[in-house]
Amino acid sequence: MTRQITLRRPDDWHLHLRDGDALRSVIAATARQFARAIVMPNIRPPVTTLAAALAYRERILAALAAARAAGELDDTGAAFEPLMTLYLTDRTTAQDIREASASGQVHGVKLYPAGATTHSDAGVTDIARTYPALQAMQDCGLPLLVHGEVTDPAIDLFDREKVFIDRVMEPLRRDFPALKVVFEHITTQDAAQYVAQAPGPTAATITAHHLLYNRNALFLGGVRPHWYCLPVLKRETHRQALLQAATSGSPRFFLGTDSAPHARHLKEIACGCAGCYTAPHALELYATAFEQADALDRLAGFASEFGPAFYGLPPNQGTVTLVREPWAIPESLPFAGDSIVPLAGGETLEWRLRD
Ligand code: NCD
Ligand code: ZN
Ligand code: ZN
Repeated sequence: MTRQITLRRPDDWHLHLRDGDALRSVIAATARQFARAIVMPNIRPPVTTLAAALAYRERILAALAAARAAGELDDTGAAFEPLMTLYLTDRTTAQDIREASASGQVHGVKLYPAGATTHSDAGVTDIARTYPALQAMQDCGLPLLVHGEVTDPAIDLFDREKVFIDRVMEPLRRDFPALKVVFEHITTQDAAQYVAQAPGPTAATITAHHLLYNRNALFLGGVRPHWYCLPVLKRETHRQALLQAATSGSPRFFLGTDSAPHARHLKEIACGCAGCYTAPHALELYATAFEQADALDRLAGFASEFGPAFYGLPPNQGTVTLVREPWAIPESLPFAGDSIVPLAGGETLEWRLRD
């Protein structure tokens, strides 16, 4: 039985850090595990310009320094690098894109179909409106990161990712054959199959929760708001297809936690927010999933190699080590003067990241 795994220091290619006190509460959890992360721009107001991205980056670095000063991080953790993104809107211009790309600080542009998910109200209403921006992104080599669900209320919630492939992804790939596209947090066999064979530079991130759980987890003995995220968990056949894709060794699939913190009281209410908080135990969750598939030897590629290769960034120096050492996930953690429930809080994990 494998007792220990050492990997090149990994990156998180899809992360929500929030802002203000919430940012300060979560930054150390990610910086302890990952060297870099693609930071999602769906804060309020959304990060729609280079200036906003640079200012947000400064706030993240300040939170990191505060965590270091408080003894929450060592020097390696404090060297965490936020990779900034822009929030695509109907009004994003080609010039906005060229400026962002030239800065060297913006590594992707995020497409949220308006209304699809948390803080997506400023998102794109019709992808045709974004064609000048997409053209500029293709020219600059700046990746498009996609929340891949249609918002059509006539489409069943569980089918929205599959329908997005036909309605948006395929035309997009046809119209911009050289555009780098990351299909974020895929949840279906359909998306895994699409990404595996799509033309052009196409990749996908996969979360730990979609590798570990199917939709039964949402209703186990009662409604479980801490398992609610978007795209919502799907049935077991889809989970198995995702696990197969993640452990296939294909460089098109890489790690993106979609750790999406919301305060406990905003999850445990009549209309709770979507998002699972997985940053504190992300690598342990992924190791658990890969071990289930008897594929721990494939974790390094997925977590540490394929993401940098797709984004055109150098792989990290240094390593992290996971040891087989059972520990209980905290039931609750402090969060911006409130508390937050990490995914599977109170449950035991077999793997632990060594400090
Ligand atoms: C994310 C959030 O809370 O920002 N929520 C989620 O359920 N995944 C938004 C997103 O990634 O769609
Ligand atoms: Zn999303
Ligand atoms: Zn997300």
